[in-house]
Amino acid sequence: MSTPIKLTINGQSCSCQAGQTILEVASANNIYIPTLCWMKDRSPWGGCRVCIVEIEGSPKVVPACATPAADGSAVTTNSPRLQRLRKMTLELLFSERNHVCPICPMNKGDCGLQHQGYPHGVDSIRFPYLFPALSMDLTGRYFGLDHNRCILCTRCVRTCDEIEGVHTLDIANRGEKNEVVVDLHVGLGESETCTQCGACVAACPTGALFDKAQTYRGKLHSCRTVKTTCPECPVGCGLEVFTKEDRIVEVFGDSDSQLNAGHLCKKGRYETWAAPRHRITQPLLHGKPVSWDEALAFVRQARATSPVWESVLLASPRLTNEAAHAIHAVADKLDRVGTYVVPNEAALVDAPEQPGDVAQHLAEADAFILLGVQPVRDHGVIAARVRTGVRKRGAKLVILDCRRSDLDAYADIAVREVSLERKFWARVAEVLRDAKRPVLIYGPTAMTPVGVSVLDKLTEVFRAQGTGEGPALVGLPSGVNSIGMVAAGVEPVEEVAPWLDAKPVQYLHLVLGDEPDGGAQLLEEKHMADLLAGIPCVVVQASYRSKLTDAAQVVLPATIWAEKTGTLTNFTGRMLPLRPVVPVRGAGRDDAAIVEAVYA
Ligand code: FES
Repeated sequence: MSTPIKLTINGQSCSCQAGQTILEVASANNIYIPTLCWMKDRSPWGGCRVCIVEIEGSPKVVPACATPAADGSAVTTNSPRLQRLRKMTLELLFSERNHVCPICPMNKGDCGLQHQGYPHGVDSIRFPYLFPALSMDLTGRYFGLDHNRCILCTRCVRTCDEIEGVHTLDIANRGEKNEVVVDLHVGLGESETCTQCGACVAACPTGALFDKAQTYRGKLHSCRTVKTTCPECPVGCGLEVFTKEDRIVEVFGDSDSQLNAGHLCKKGRYETWAAPRHRITQPLLHGKPVSWDEALAFVRQARATSPVWESVLLASPRLTNEAAHAIHAVADKLDRVGTYVVPNEAALVDAPEQPGDVAQHLAEADAFILLGVQPVRDHGVIAARVRTGVRKRGAKLVILDCRRSDLDAYADIAVREVSLERKFWARVAEVLRDAKRPVLIYGPTAMTPVGVSVLDKLTEVFRAQGTGEGPALVGLPSGVNSIGMVAAGVEPVEEVAPWLDAKPVQYLHLVLGDEPDGGAQLLEEKHMADLLAGIPCVVVQASYRSKLTDAAQVVLPATIWAEKTGTLTNFTGRMLPLRPVVPVRGAGRDDAAIVEAVYA
């Protein structure tokens, strides 16, 4: 343990460990220093100079965010000289680009530059405005980049590099020609590396990077905020949702969430709310809007005329635990109830195995082995942990039996099909030779005979190396709440068409909840369209319109994640809360309530 460092800040005695910055020591001692380019959990850059402080005996001012505290030093954080220099720095920042605040969505409350301008008395600019002719990049699907509002603080660049781990953004050119660039100077929409996680937008202190859907919906500081759980994958990231006038203005990651620590992937950040979808807000009978009474009367009549042994309910794996229990409670009124899952998921969700603190294991891993899992596509925040582990900590990466993804570029070994030959496993053993904290992240494919053989081989590798108990195991299902659904007693169905076709079906109730595609994926399975066409009564319970809802006799409108109260069980087995963010739209009802009403 290093000797503690002692210093004074504004005359107040402080102590810290070697390597801590003056800003960290000040903030630990409740001493305020203004910042602009600094950001928690990002490397310090020291570029904006708003955090400058004086150190006794030194003629220079230094940035507190990038200067280590020195033993015996006396630091001053506020003085007429510092105020004057900070004000001048801010004026220079305002004069450099085209900061036309009235037409910026961050104006009056959400802008970091304005936040510093007001207390430093920036009421006019003494320097000539440069008025550069700068472009805007609106080619991105969810967000845009307006170079006119950029202050080159590099918060976006560091976030893209250090948190999402892709380094899509960087700074090009010199002097006043400095600008943020995407890849090798392409548009946001053309980038081959951008994952569209939007972390850069969340990090931007001005309106340079902005979410298209959020623009002019409302000032964030005047919004109501609700903390809830992301409903898009089984990781269960914490969300902080901003709403105004009963609509969502913005979705950010919850920085208090242990799993995602404020970070989100594209699905959580945007697909929860910013992707356009056709919402169903009223019950439909043969495509025509009807009242709930009429719709329920039709469904009950259809049930009464269909024998129980020819009545089936199939549910989405993204329903809440409460909906899963409601379905299980009415199972005796039907022949079969099931939830559709991807092939080989049933065994995975039946007995999920996780180490105690997954977030910590991922944060400290010195080797990742991915087996039959698609984190880039299905669990974006986990993919970000792997990328940053490899790029920042030098962790080894072995990818076995996974689809192609950008992670291949960082891998020591990446194979689509795993060989059981000695030579191949000698290579794996060589790569993992020094791993002390390996993590094995596996998906449904690991449950196949080949997957089990691979697990056996890995066990042999680690046993031969004497790495204690071997890697920490992190199982990642594909279904959002398939673990919760199966735990509630709903049968996992890996192949829907054969399951449906096993016996004659007169009545089929599809409980799809807020499946983003309205359940259209079900029609992609071979023979499904023909099978559904042959069932006399198909009731679809869904939030969004699809080919399935168009073909159903009855459509019952379900609430979406942002309107629900309930819980989801994430991949670690933790029950996470879904809290209502906005009021229910139209005549939508909760999935559990609809199931109870249909089978009352
Ligand atoms: Fe320290 Fe920008 S906050 S230099």
